[in-house]
Amino acid sequence: MNASTQERRNIMKMISPTPDDAMIVFDGVSKSYNGAVALHETALAVRRGEFLSLLGPSGSGKSTILNIIAGAIAPSSGRIFLNGADVSTVPPRERQLGMVFQNYALLPHLNVYDNIAFPLRIRGASNAEIKQKVGDALERVSLVGYEKRKPREMSGGQQQRVGIARCIVYSPSVILMDEPLGALDKKLRDQLQGEIKKLHRDLGTTLVYVTHDQEEALNLSDRVCLMNGGRIAQLGTPDELYFEPVDEFVADFVGESNLFAGVLRDDYQVELDGGWLLRVRSAQGFLPGERVKVMVRPEKVEVAAPGDASDAHPNRCVGTVNQISFVGGMTRFEVRLADGRTVLVKGISDRAADRIEVGASLALRWAAHNTVVIKANQG
Ligand SMILES: Nc1ncnc2c1ncn2[C@@H]1O[C@H](COP(=O)(O)OP(=O)(O)OP(=O)(O)O)[C@@H](O)[C@H]1O
Ligand SMILES: [Mg+2]
Repeated sequence: MNASTQERRNIMKMISPTPDDAMIVFDGVSKSYNGAVALHETALAVRRGEFLSLLGPSGSGKSTILNIIAGAIAPSSGRIFLNGADVSTVPPRERQLGMVFQNYALLPHLNVYDNIAFPLRIRGASNAEIKQKVGDALERVSLVGYEKRKPREMSGGQQQRVGIARCIVYSPSVILMDEPLGALDKKLRDQLQGEIKKLHRDLGTTLVYVTHDQEEALNLSDRVCLMNGGRIAQLGTPDELYFEPVDEFVADFVGESNLFAGVLRDDYQVELDGGWLLRVRSAQGFLPGERVKVMVRPEKVEVAAPGDASDAHPNRCVGTVNQISFVGGMTRFEVRLADGRTVLVKGISDRAADRIEVGASLALRWAAHNTVVIKANQG
């Protein structure tokens, strides 16, 4: 059974015996434009109430997925289920989804109150209901008192709060956000990330969030769906993507990593090109003789005392410090080994580490369970 058949079975399991688990399901959904594939045939299930990020480089298909959920793009194949119902042919308006865009998409001639009231008015809500719901939404995004302002009289961060209020005001069961913080500076992004996370917790809504910022995705999400070239590269918790990447692309895209090429000798050993034998975490699913990559996260590399022979850290090497940089409370070293490899080391800055200088000789070590075998990229 190939991977996509297995995936499809998992999806079908989610649709039929346990429909309550899945809020959004893609069954074999794809999208092509004049023969150019934007999204390969995809199986995807978003759980009820979860915060799922679509992460990936530019052009990897993130917005395509979001817009197919919203109904703004018609798929070339496959079916879309929302809350158990096939909505493949249901027009966007009737899907009852909330949408937040990067460019805010506010109505410039309407003030804040009327912008937020807009989705309720087109649904024929009474004035009393509108007043109560807009008031509640304004409170949730901390904009009470701004009712009469026009969008142009507000900062980018405030305009996006209006965008979010307009989205949540009619309590959609699914909220879709496409790079909502993309136009804001770093500090404001951090602040609004916290607010979006809290909002999601308070409302319990299913939220699908597009970003190309891996830190943002890891920070916000219950699960991250990493896209690459119109396919899902990996779907998992932030922890799984970081510590158990399925391949080199994922290891490289999510956080920093040391990646070494080699050949699997047995379940617990990889021989790197040039003959260095590394002890690795159990390499289940790989065959002896297979070409693989070995990943060690820089914060898992320790600076060892010279002559250290601890059994817990079978992987050791000695090199010369090539570069040192301080990133916040972290210190980052590049250590050049005699064989030409470079090992990246990251640790919490402390006095001992701060005494290490460029050109110094340094012994490094890391544990076998932090030495992860992953699939090498093809070619
Ligand atoms: N209307 C269209 N016509 C033709 N090709 C399109 C169209 N819309 C998107 N594509 C192509 O589909 C692919 C996926 O696009 P998509 O917008 O989903 O990427 P993305 O991951 O959201 O990227 P970004 O981070 O740049 O927003 C891209 O190669 C893009 O050029
Ligand atoms: Mg996009």
